[in-house]
This record gives sequence, C-alpha cells and structure tokens, in this order.
Amino acid sequence: MERTFIAIKPDGVQRGLISEIIARFERKGFKLVAIKLVNPTKSFAQKHYHDLKERPFFDGLCDFLSSGPVLAMVWEGEGVIKYGRKLIGATDPQKSEPGTIRGDLAVVVGRNIIHGSDGPETAKDEINLWFKPEELTSYTSNQEKWVYGVN
Ligand code: GTP
Ligand code: MG
Repeated sequence: MERTFIAIKPDGVQRGLISEIIARFERKGFKLVAIKLVNPTKSFAQKHYHDLKERPFFDGLCDFLSSGPVLAMVWEGEGVIKYGRKLIGATDPQKSEPGTIRGDLAVVVGRNIIHGSDGPETAKDEINLWFKPEELTSYTSNQEKWVYGVN
C-alpha cells in the first residue's frame, strides 16, 4: 500500500496543532505507520529540502526547520501521497482553500505548519531519510474493511 512522509513543522508543533492535524488524516481513513518527534540539525534540513537549494529562501527555510521539534510521520493508504497534499492545501496559505490544513490554520508561506511528499520517488526518499526501517510498522487496522470494503 502507498506511503507518504508527512511532517508537522516547528510552528505547527509550537502552536499546539499536532492533534488537529493528525485527526484530519485519521478521519479521512489513512493509517499512521510511523511517528516520532525529532530535532533536525541544519544539515539534515538541507538534505530534506535539497531540491530547493538554489531558491533565495533556502537558508531561512532550513534554519526554520531546524529551530525546534518536528513531528515526523509516515501515513499509508490508497492515493495517500496525492490526497495528503490535498488535505494540506497550497504551499502559500493565502492561496490554500478553506477546509485544507494550511487554509484553515496558517497565514504565510514561511510558516505553513506542515510538509507532505510531492510524489512517489520523493515519498520513498523522505521516508528513508527520516526513518530507520525498524521504525516503520506494518499492521492491519480494524477499520480497513470499512474504509475499503471487503472485495
Ligand atoms: P513542503 O510540503 O514543505 O515541501 O511544501 P510544498 O511542497 O507545498 O512547497 P515547496 O516544496 O515548493 O517549498 C517548501 C517550503 O518552502 C514551503 O512549504 C514553504 O515553507 C517554503 N517556501 C516555498 N516558497 C516560498 C517562498 O516563496 N518564500 C518563503 N519564505 N518560503 C517559501
Ligand atoms: Mg515540497
């Protein structure tokens, strides 16, 4: 089953939004398979955002990501990579739709509270960067037959 890397950034953690954000993924029907609170170093943040290293905001972004605890998670479900991004909303909260996490809970692009992998390759790389294989669980949840049906 498809998996994606989702992280609540330091602003989301500091603002007490962990439970609100997790609830949205849970209620949708996605399954949490890994979770931990981490303090990334700046060089780790640079690795995570390596695709953006030429952008003018890269240094500030990496300082920010490494400024406090980040809640790192892996979520599993059919279409979770793409739909996870839909739940999160557009990068700039001024352009995110109401009803999305960033639309409802954030105001500016530099403090948009959550990260989600943007495709299957990135999801794989980010899960491997943030988690050791033994930190990833695999289990059947009781609600699966109700979320997906039996056949
Ligand atoms: P992530 O899920 O965090 O990767 O966001 P995204 O995929 O929606 O956007 P992208 O990967 O392009 O940018 C990564 C992060 O850089 C964003 O979440 C923002 O926090 C930040 N960012 C992107 N564009 C800008 C910008 O124009 N200015 C500033 N200050 N930050 C930006
Ligand atoms: Mg991105």
